[in-house]
Amino acid sequence: MKKVMITGCLGQIGSELVERLRKDLGAENVIATDVRQPEAGSPILTEGHFEILDVTDYEKFKKIAEDNHVDTLVHLAALLSAVAEAKPKFAWDLNMGGLENALEVARELKLLFFTPSSIGAFGPSTPADNTPQDTIQRPTTMYGVTKVSGELLCDYYHKRFGVDTRGVRFPGLISYKTLPGGGTTDYAVDIYYEALKKGHYDSFIGKGTKMDMMYMPDAIDAIVDLLNADPSRLKHRNAFNISAMSFEPEEIKASIQKVMPNFTMDYDVDPVRQGIADSWPNSLDVSCAKEEWDFSPKYDLDKMTVDMLEKLRIKLGDEAKF
Ligand code: SER
Repeated sequence: MKKVMITGCLGQIGSELVERLRKDLGAENVIATDVRQPEAGSPILTEGHFEILDVTDYEKFKKIAEDNHVDTLVHLAALLSAVAEAKPKFAWDLNMGGLENALEVARELKLLFFTPSSIGAFGPSTPADNTPQDTIQRPTTMYGVTKVSGELLCDYYHKRFGVDTRGVRFPGLISYKTLPGGGTTDYAVDIYYEALKKGHYDSFIGKGTKMDMMYMPDAIDAIVDLLNADPSRLKHRNAFNISAMSFEPEEIKASIQKVMPNFTMDYDVDPVRQGIADSWPNSLDVSCAKEEWDFSPKYDLDKMTVDMLEKLRIKLGDEAKF
């Protein structure tokens, strides 16, 4: 991996991956793209190379990759679960059309390829606890349908055309830099913002609902580590179960209360996102990622909470009233 093109670079993962890869590879070796124009003065624009790209436009997609002589493609542009449930047809067209174009570009230009799958690739018939790497995948959301189809398509491109495709099933990702855009696990990000702004949070996910989660520095390390992994060790490719913690709302509340003892939480459950969460696993078995490319996350819930509150307090400035 010497020169990388990234799609969806303004999203929650993309914004931090661009920053990391510009440091690792040099700013001139990261081609950041998104369908939206970044805000004037944003580091994405001022500190490196940015181009507008709608990933459903194959010709432009290929031209940017070709003109910049990239050797690696990280395809992140996609809708998250709750938005995809609100716009299923658009989600299919964007998530699958974008991925198909990305894989074709990777095939034609012989690129190393990464795209994320998700805990959303599982469904209600999947074993919910210690969910195995290889198991039943019958998701009941459009997001999940696109994620399973995406895993299969990536495996197909590897087997049929020899494309070096790699991927992980991300759990909920928690970060203070860029907000996630319409996912089910977003409550675990919102709660930190509201804790600092209001001292209180109304959770849209109900009591007792466990989901896998991970802090963004571990997620970024996972992408880089998997891209750098020795291919001869990889028995799996698309996509590895990964996770750093599994908790339910009461547990993240208790973790915040260790730092902010007066923090309170109530429930205002959103039936749509609760339904999605109920169809997902409680906790994943990540042993294949450990065995095949030494996956080793550094943040547990309490360590993440301390860092998140500290960094977010600085970011929010006067808005942080608690
Ligand atoms: N964080 C994602 C979502 O909630 C899961 O992959 O949609």
